[in-house]
Amino acid sequence: MYKAPRGTTDILPGEQAYWAHVQQRAAEVCLLYGYERIDTPAFEDYGLFARTDAEGTDLVEKEMYIFEDRGGQKLALRAENTAPVCRAYVEHGLFNLSQPVRLYYIGPTFRYERPQAGRYRQHHQFGCEALGDASPILDVEVIELAIRFLESLGLTRLSVLLNSIGCRECQPAYVEVLQQYYQAFSADVCSDCRVRMVRNPLRLLDCKQSACKRIVDAAPHISDYLCPECKDHFREVQEQLKVLGIPFALNHTLVRGLDYYTRTVFEILPQRQGSQSAIVGGGRYDGLIEQIGGKPTPAVGFAMGLERVILNIKEQGLDVPVPPGPRVYIAHVGTPARQTAVSLARRLRGAGIGVLASTGTKSFKAQLRQANSLGVTYTIILGDNEVEARTAVVRDMARNEQSTLPQDELVEHLGRPVDCSPDSASS
Ligand code: HAM
Repeated sequence: MYKAPRGTTDILPGEQAYWAHVQQRAAEVCLLYGYERIDTPAFEDYGLFARTDAEGTDLVEKEMYIFEDRGGQKLALRAENTAPVCRAYVEHGLFNLSQPVRLYYIGPTFRYERPQAGRYRQHHQFGCEALGDASPILDVEVIELAIRFLESLGLTRLSVLLNSIGCRECQPAYVEVLQQYYQAFSADVCSDCRVRMVRNPLRLLDCKQSACKRIVDAAPHISDYLCPECKDHFREVQEQLKVLGIPFALNHTLVRGLDYYTRTVFEILPQRQGSQSAIVGGGRYDGLIEQIGGKPTPAVGFAMGLERVILNIKEQGLDVPVPPGPRVYIAHVGTPARQTAVSLARRLRGAGIGVLASTGTKSFKAQLRQANSLGVTYTIILGDNEVEARTAVVRDMARNEQSTLPQDELVEHLGRPVDCSPDSASS
């Protein structure tokens, strides 16, 4: 027996209403803010993710799916979407367009992690990136967009955590102070943190081990070491969030797991919080495009896991529109009726009426039971008599009434074509 690989899930038909809804809402909200869709490949050159400056991050060291193709090229499944979007921005000369370029994506993302509720080896990210502009207004725009999207789904009481981790100029001085502070605790911290002290000191602040938590809490705050430009940027972000009435909490230990952030970093958490609770993660990454071979270009963005969004929709008991099923079921008995059923189904579908045609392998009774369980509006019944008279018995399932009609009048009688838009489904 084969099973879906550990940490992956099949999205069965019963789940699709959630996925259609969140993707539709994401597209609508992005349209409101002028973000255009981009799709990048599911795999990239390994080096795009494993840049030298990315060494020491869990993503590069432990979580990537790496493989060599038959031509000997070392590739990696997309472990996050920001570097691929930056690669596309440079490769296709999007820097020649009016800046900032606003892009969004929705797609599967792959990380070899220890699976648990809300954490998978294949998850789907919806994210936005605004490239080519350093204004703090954009930092706030992407936070506002993420919140508007979550609120459009009915998710409320969200917490925004905010920090600034400085820039190339001011961060090194803070890192030195942090390393000095940790010297006194090298015997007390966990084994991971002992490595971080050397390889990736900022990540010390993110350690969740109880032994390290106490040390983290008393660590020097990066906000006290920001250069004047980073301080101004951070102040403007906070002021603008206040103007928009978006509540946020400053969190001096928020540093994020990826290497490329500069200045603003943020996370958005739902009402119920646990270890895998951040729905949204993002921030500014003014050095990344240069690191992958482009010109120095400021940029900011976020990504969110749609599995976590849907988990929260379910936990909060929120409704999602269910797309309508077929309107008509055709039951039939006998060979001539089977042929008529197939042609009639084709004619009705051609007129935009959804039809589920029985294959005729079930008994007549079983066909009617199936029609009932599908919740169709009408069942059409065909037998030898109807074929000969070119008529059909039409049963209105809700009223439990039936009448005989000429086959040529069925399109008119069975009514309006299917409207597949989600809004029609909720009405
Ligand atoms: P990230 O925090 O690694 O950031 O991931 C973003 C979001 O993806 C998380 O908040 C979470 O909702 C979801 N996520 C991450 N890993 C998993 C997983 N294993 N299972 C389920 N959901 C997961 C990034 O990926 C950055 N590229 C975000 C960004 C965009 N920063 C700037 N622009």
